[in-house]
Amino acid sequence: MESDPIDYFDRPIMPNLTRRDLVKSGLLVGTAVLAPKRLVEALVAEHGATTLAATPRERLLLDRSWRFALGPSIDPSYGYAGSTSFAKSGNLFAPSNPRFDASGWRELDLPHDWAIELPFVADPRLTDWGFKPLHRAYPDTSIGWYRKVFSLPASDAGRRLSIEFDGVFRDATVALNGHLLGRNLSGYAPFRFDITDVATVGGDNILVVRVDATEHEGWFYEGAGIYRHVWLVKTAPLHVPQWGTYVTSEVKGRAAAVRVLTEIANESDSPARFRVVHAVQDAAGRVVARAASKDPVRVDAWATTEHRLETTIPDVALWSIETPSLYTVVTTIESDGAELDRYETPFGVRTIRFDANEGFFLNGTRVEIKGTCNHHDHAGVGAALPDRLHAFRVSRLKDFGTNAYRTSHNPPNIELLDACDRLGMVVVDETRMFGASEEALSQLERMLRRDRNHPSIIAWSIANEEPTQGTERGERIARVMARMVRRLDPTRPVAAAMDQSWGRGISNAIDIMGFNYRVPQMDAYHAQHPSTPVWGTETGSTVSTRGIYENDAQRGYLSAYDANAPWWASTAEAWWSIAATRRWIAGGFIWTGFDYRGEPTPYAWPCISSHFGILDTCGFPKDNFYYYKAQWTDAPVLHLFPHWNWAGKEGKEIEVWCHTNLDRVELFVNGTSAGVREVPRTSHAMWKVPYTPGKIEARGFRGGEQVLSQTVETTGPAARILLNADRARIAADGEDVAVIAAVVVDAAGRVVPIANDEITFEISGAGRLLGVGNGDPSSHESDRGPRRRAFNGLCAAIVQSARDSGALRVRATAGALAAGSIEVTCTPAAARPSA
Ligand code: GAL
Repeated sequence: MESDPIDYFDRPIMPNLTRRDLVKSGLLVGTAVLAPKRLVEALVAEHGATTLAATPRERLLLDRSWRFALGPSIDPSYGYAGSTSFAKSGNLFAPSNPRFDASGWRELDLPHDWAIELPFVADPRLTDWGFKPLHRAYPDTSIGWYRKVFSLPASDAGRRLSIEFDGVFRDATVALNGHLLGRNLSGYAPFRFDITDVATVGGDNILVVRVDATEHEGWFYEGAGIYRHVWLVKTAPLHVPQWGTYVTSEVKGRAAAVRVLTEIANESDSPARFRVVHAVQDAAGRVVARAASKDPVRVDAWATTEHRLETTIPDVALWSIETPSLYTVVTTIESDGAELDRYETPFGVRTIRFDANEGFFLNGTRVEIKGTCNHHDHAGVGAALPDRLHAFRVSRLKDFGTNAYRTSHNPPNIELLDACDRLGMVVVDETRMFGASEEALSQLERMLRRDRNHPSIIAWSIANEEPTQGTERGERIARVMARMVRRLDPTRPVAAAMDQSWGRGISNAIDIMGFNYRVPQMDAYHAQHPSTPVWGTETGSTVSTRGIYENDAQRGYLSAYDANAPWWASTAEAWWSIAATRRWIAGGFIWTGFDYRGEPTPYAWPCISSHFGILDTCGFPKDNFYYYKAQWTDAPVLHLFPHWNWAGKEGKEIEVWCHTNLDRVELFVNGTSAGVREVPRTSHAMWKVPYTPGKIEARGFRGGEQVLSQTVETTGPAARILLNADRARIAADGEDVAVIAAVVVDAAGRVVPIANDEITFEISGAGRLLGVGNGDPSSHESDRGPRRRAFNGLCAAIVQSARDSGALRVRATAGALAAGSIEVTCTPAAARPSA
């Protein structure tokens, strides 16, 4: 049925709404009209089917079908429509013009990191950042432009509309329909813009983002571009604003009191009255507690109010590392029996406590912090991780007993925190900018408000090795930041990572003393400050290369024995021998869990990534993985290395090591005993044996009983490729990924530990290749594939589902090697609602 057009925004809309529809949609609250009056009257005059959604809130992924171009060459035409850019509103950025021809721009989906696509450049100024040309000297590759056209249906009239950016690296200037929305400097803090007043409802909208990654915020690879999700959010005028809930809890016997602080914004010309209703759901979706405001709550026009309610979960399942039980508060804002907003807040119930003599307690039980620090990049994708990859990384860390994660040195992707919540890993969440400026505090506030409902977070870190750390100025800044933390989240302590001046400066403003390295100084600090909890915020830090057993400065490799550490750091064993024997040390965070791009310490070009990881950039374990696994898990561990393919070294002495938590190990070389070693609890076993091809075998004993044995054999030449997927089934939602390991084996199926064949990945069926990697810190191959050399027998490909279910087939070939193939099943799954 055709209705008469309503000329409200100079375009036809045909909403056909009843008053009831309007109430349900949130445009009308009681008798208060929360949308332009004329529009509502016109809408009310209509009859028939509703065109507004029953639940007003919509959160649509805005990741699909962007256009992207690199370079500042677009800058001279900053403005359009015959105006200089800022002279008159609505003219910002040439690409905002509807007639702008973006057909030459590349089409892509977010998340996107253009840095990963750039070639490596041997410029020493780029060393820390992984030799990608992001720098004043490289303007053509340091500035990127994004353009997205999306439409808003006429039925959005009267709603509040906003765009949320989870993270853009960095200095983003954003325009919608030529109107400046704003600028965001931080490459890590999320930001949002209200677009209601400049949006075209009932037509196309042009969103342009200029991203300037010329400057760095860190001293490590950071990526470039819109590397996290973008969302289009639609709400009723009366709604819970972004991050508008704060859930805290108090355990009382078997029950927990749950307190919900809710903000409600009224973005309309009339005051509103409403009810706040909370339903607490457990992981299975059962409602286990409820709370509702008794009297109607009132909020003035264009005002925000806070509302507090408390309820009780009778038989609470506590969140812990082993059983990370989660709940969700479903908050509804109701008026006249209609739901105006529905806002979900996942949370968990647990207690945390730090003690200066006993360390860290979770739910009343002492938990040794067995943590790692990590940056956010991964092989194949740079900084633009699909959500699933965060869970993959957390799982890889848990594999060797890690229970804690420090988000060095910036607020992470929200999906990383979700993974830690879900999989059971405590987190220290760290802001990037130390400062008392509006900018620094805004970044801190956004981190706190975004993240404070995550049960995994146990502390907020406000600084890392700041030059002012030991000064009075540093203390003043830290006090301002700590004050903000305590105001926005009094439930968690303030921490900072310091590498000197403990006891001075910043130390005076924080709750937990963080030591970056310099472990021997912890004892003196503890003696002088017996009431301050202490932990290692950066510790250990063996530098090693997976599968390499000799330092090679030429090629940029370090041996994977637990032997090399920078002068300021220590080996795994040196650190853990100290931490494990001092109960007052709460534990600490190894620098780092994963290798990351940049900081190729102790080398420079041709080395492009760090050696600090326990895992390489793909997540393949180095030998120290087993040192930590032996120390950090209860399962018996026996790991024998190095490999036994030393052609040309016959008769030469080779160090053979064993990482184990058994108490005695005997080594056999080609069947002959090379000796028994008693293994102190935090140490390793070592033999020196002349190399003869064949096999070495370790037999591990506990209490006189042989518990485990492991054999390492000299392999034959590479014969074929085996493929493994981390998961056999993934969701056909266009986002999910599987991580495929390509393993080069000999004719007997043994991994060839020196194989470096170039592997070509062919993908067919329901998905695509996202990227490749091999953990080689000196590889200059493209992460975008489809080819990658095996590095010491291994390389990886990340494949992503399409939105059609079916088989995603991966085939890997390399010259004369027998090809490998694997199928990942993409199971039907709804793609997330998208704009
Ligand atoms: C620390 C710093 C880390 C990393 C590390 C390398 O001083 O906080 O970000 O640079 O050194 O050893």
